[in-house]
Amino acid sequence: MIKSCYIHIPFCKKICSYCDFCKIYYNEIYINKYLDALEKEIDTYYKGELLDTLYIGGGTPSSLSLDELNRLFNILKKLNTSDKLEFTIECNIEDITEDKLKLFKDNCINRISIGIESFNEDNLKFMNRPSINLDKLNLAKKYFDNINIDLIYALPNETLEILNSDLDKVLEFNPKHISIYSLIIENNTMIRDLEPIDDELDYEMYKLICDRLSNYHHYEISNFAIPGYESKHNLTYWNNDEYYGFGMGASGYTNNIRYTNTKSINHYIKNEFNRVEEHLNSLDKEKYELIMGFRKLSGINLNIYKEKYNKDLLDNEIINKLLSENKL
Ligand SMILES: C[S@@+](CC[C@H](N)C(=O)[O-])C[C@H]1O[C@@H](n2cnc3c(N)ncnc32)[C@H](O)[C@@H]1O
Ligand code: SF4
Repeated sequence: MIKSCYIHIPFCKKICSYCDFCKIYYNEIYINKYLDALEKEIDTYYKGELLDTLYIGGGTPSSLSLDELNRLFNILKKLNTSDKLEFTIECNIEDITEDKLKLFKDNCINRISIGIESFNEDNLKFMNRPSINLDKLNLAKKYFDNINIDLIYALPNETLEILNSDLDKVLEFNPKHISIYSLIIENNTMIRDLEPIDDELDYEMYKLICDRLSNYHHYEISNFAIPGYESKHNLTYWNNDEYYGFGMGASGYTNNIRYTNTKSINHYIKNEFNRVEEHLNSLDKEKYELIMGFRKLSGINLNIYKEKYNKDLLDNEIINKLLSENKL
């Protein structure tokens, strides 16, 4: 039973040097057409399930104007949502204004995810990202209790001291949730020719992060939460449960099919969603269950596994071998 839905808003005012997400420059001309197509896509595929989590990601959803955001929220009213809805929006720090925060609140958003990435000026310059305005962060806190902060580490020339100082600052802000990722050097980005930092240093950095964030529940490789504030939406992915993905380049998983929508804005706004589909058989589903499940600190729940696949995971030869060699 589908309980989660991801909505992709691909517009960004600035493009970050490391980013390989599906995004295009913010352009007013496209936005109304994009929202028309999004509405059409939802009308075509959504079957009315009661949703427990809704996540608006990007791109930069917060780059939309108040009118455009109003239109988006009106479209999303078509979705049937439960009383315990976790409703997240990704927000870039420079977009935070009192008006937008109020609009989010008025439209039942109860969690915001802010891309900070680093507080260090050299790191920010490297990433082609704006300086951090602490007033904006504090304003967000006035309106929202459940805030996630995104950070990136293992940037070129970054030292343990620089990372430590980023961790000081994020702990001072005291968010309910922190996602912290080691820089991935992707092919289609401005930094594609860069060498990654030394693996040993990356490992030292990861240990430092785990140590400094020890008051948080480290529930997934890169995710830390005050207990009770773990992201229900992201747990849908890691629990290998099905979810809708709407919007250009969005991925979803419905009726045993994993799909990704077209990454072409010209196709998308013509309602040519051109999904690339992967049809899963039972073995594929089991493999996803393991790959996703091992990302979580809690690992794989053997009872749920048995219920879902009608077999005992501990009967699996490879799993047994890895367990006996102390590799699992
Ligand atoms: C879609 S972005 C977040 C929302 C918004 N677009 C922003 O940049 O603030 C999701 C997060 O993934 C992480 N991320 C994206 N590309 C990455 C890369 N190449 N290496 C490591 N982390 C990356 C960043 O922390 C980023 O904030
Ligand atoms: S990291 Fe976020 S803001 Fe930067 S280009 Fe990618 S989607 Fe846009």
